Amino acid sequence: MKKSVLITGCSSGIGYCVAQGLHARGYRVFATARREESVGMLRSEGLESLRLDLNDSTSIHQAVTEVLQRTDGKLYALFNNGAYGLPGAVEDLSREAIRAQFETNFFGWLELTNLILPVMRRQGYGRIIQNSSVLGFAAMPFRGAYNASKFALEGLSDTLRLELRGTKIFVSLIEPGPIATNFRANAMQALIHYIDFEKSVHRDRYLAVQSRLNKKGAAVPFTLPPEAVLQKVIHALEANHPSARYYVTFPTHLFGLLKRILPVRMLDKLLAKAGSDHQ
Ligand SMILES: NC(=O)c1ccc[n+]([C@@H]2O[C@H](COP(=O)([O-])OP(=O)(O)OC[C@H]3O[C@@H](n4cnc5c(N)ncnc54)[C@H](OP(=O)(O)O)[C@@H]3O)[C@@H](O)[C@H]2O)c1
Repeated sequence: MKKSVLITGCSSGIGYCVAQGLHARGYRVFATARREESVGMLRSEGLESLRLDLNDSTSIHQAVTEVLQRTDGKLYALFNNGAYGLPGAVEDLSREAIRAQFETNFFGWLELTNLILPVMRRQGYGRIIQNSSVLGFAAMPFRGAYNASKFALEGLSDTLRLELRGTKIFVSLIEPGPIATNFRANAMQALIHYIDFEKSVHRDRYLAVQSRLNKKGAAVPFTLPPEAVLQKVIHALEANHPSARYYVTFPTHLFGLLKRILPVRMLDKLLAKAGSDHQ
């Protein structure tokens, strides 16, 4: 029987690429998306697709029930992926804005994972693969909400890994640096929706943020295509002993190293510069 994988956020970018790539590799992929039109698009391309909106518990429960019905209650792996970035200075984040960021990027992932874990415990094996980010361990200015959601995910995943020690359920974090996807366009929408930048003390810097987000093509050096993430997901699925963390792109390797060796003051200087250069 084919190994089944449930993926969130498959309408575009990494989720779409991983869904297609794993399908081509022989997995039974449940490519989920929050919008009906995305589900239709994925089905028309031959994928098994269901609606799953991470902000909506009912939709999460319905999708899991449907998947388990189709697989006789089994699921080999979950790739938690669907998320967005809310740019903005910390002092411009309302409670509502950061809540919304956590609803999608953190609480939705936790709820879904906790529905899948009993399935994996029952069957005695499984893989939970979390699409984090270089911004899950390196903070940059104007990315506080997103940084917080990914740092929280890293903490949660590290804890879960410890709690699953001794089982055959493995938790891996993927930590991409810049990947060419719709991420910036979606971040622009979130910025417009949640941040009153005209009234902000940082008003001028938001102009630079907007021009980066509106830029077509790779906005920063060392950007890789989503296939670079697919390769790591395949390793996390197929290795006998998958890694706890997979770095993707040069900036992730660089900041991973610098975080280990530099004093905070020097690291801050570099992170502040990288964040401002790529505002
Ligand atoms: N691109 C990068 O440079 C980069 C770097 C590091 C980490 N990542 C991570 O990679 C993952 C995928 O992002 P991407 O770069 O592929 O960006 P993307 O092209 O914008 O894809 C994000 C996906 O998440 C979905 N999504 C958003 N809100 C959702 C919700 N409430 N419920 C379910 N799905 C939802 C989007 O659906 P809609 O189309 O309906 O909005 C879309 O399918 C994210 O976890 C992101 O944090 C990206």
